Amino acid sequence: MIPLVDLKKQTRQLEREIQRAIGDVLAECHYVRGKWIEEFEEAFAQYCGGAYASAVSSGTAALHLALLAAGVGPEDEVVTSPYTFIATAEAITAAGARPVFVDIHPGPLTIDPEKIEGVVTRRTKSIVPVDLYGQPADLDAIREVARVRGLMVIEDACQAAGAQYKGRPIGATSHLTCFSFYPSKTLGALGDAGAVVTNDLKAAAHVRLRRDHGQTEPGVHEVEGYNARMDSIQAAVLLVKLQHLSRWNDARRRHAGQYDELLTDVEGVQIPAVMEYANPVYALYTIRVRRRDRLQAHLHQRGISTGVYYPIPLHLQAAYRYLGYKEGDFPVAEAAAQETLSLPMYPELSEDEISYVAESVRAFYQGTP
Ligand SMILES: Cc1ncc(COP(=O)(O)O)c(C=O)c1O
Repeated sequence: MIPLVDLKKQTRQLEREIQRAIGDVLAECHYVRGKWIEEFEEAFAQYCGGAYASAVSSGTAALHLALLAAGVGPEDEVVTSPYTFIATAEAITAAGARPVFVDIHPGPLTIDPEKIEGVVTRRTKSIVPVDLYGQPADLDAIREVARVRGLMVIEDACQAAGAQYKGRPIGATSHLTCFSFYPSKTLGALGDAGAVVTNDLKAAAHVRLRRDHGQTEPGVHEVEGYNARMDSIQAAVLLVKLQHLSRWNDARRRHAGQYDELLTDVEGVQIPAVMEYANPVYALYTIRVRRRDRLQAHLHQRGISTGVYYPIPLHLQAAYRYLGYKEGDFPVAEAAAQETLSLPMYPELSEDEISYVAESVRAFYQGTP
């Protein structure tokens, strides 16, 4: 079976380095706060070209704390994409605010900047663009709307560690940028972890305060917060893996190039649209196809795992029925939900495996399975 994501190969390759990093933490029994967290924060901020990185327990926590740091709270509205993982919207409601969806652009499937203006009200506090599948959203266009309407941009870059927008790394340019280090992400921990990157010292301090119970010194709590800290073991392992991230992302781009070449002329298949402003990292390699579910079954029969991200846009999820949206509200997102299929993608994928996957897709549409 060719898996959608293979964590075993990468883990085996780095096994000794990872064991050593974990061993260092065990030797000192310093499991929360402290030097590994600080070292990782410094290294990740530098990697992203941002001034401050704050290590937290997950991408969801990163979004939640970033929204709080931006002053989002009850009665506020936050504009985002309906075509994302639920955590994007969950973080908005966790901050007490209301998610307001606008449709996505049919090319990159990220939020359509031209549609944002139409939903901005006096309650709107911020915009949360999502860098879907590892491709940055159209950040300058989004920032322009934000500037005119006095809104804060909080970027959901949970799928995009290492991506670039107009030649600059993601993390350097939005007010607050949120990352996930969930194991299958481009930079994956050995469990859950995340980070918020910002150039705003006050915002960074706010995230750090809230991630640790609002504690300014032992026993002193300036505000109520959460337990949203990253563990030292995760930080130590992420420090090891960060050194390989650029190489891994280059491999992902190479694989995407090979898929593109083999699939571009297959009728019924649309390869991922790469925008001129983006250097994506292909957290997922996602094509758009006709008869998606039958293709998925066909690939499964040929030993190929695939995934659908996402089969139901957020505005049609039962969880958000209370927001009052209905089918037809966001036709681009709804069409994408019927047509997207993510093919195997991870740095250690071989050229032969990619060829086999692409041939299998071609065979389905040319009737020669
Ligand atoms: C777009 C997006 N936002 C938020 C998250 C949440 O990240 P985590 O799973 O680390 O909480 C994820 C990842 O799962 C994601 O893909």
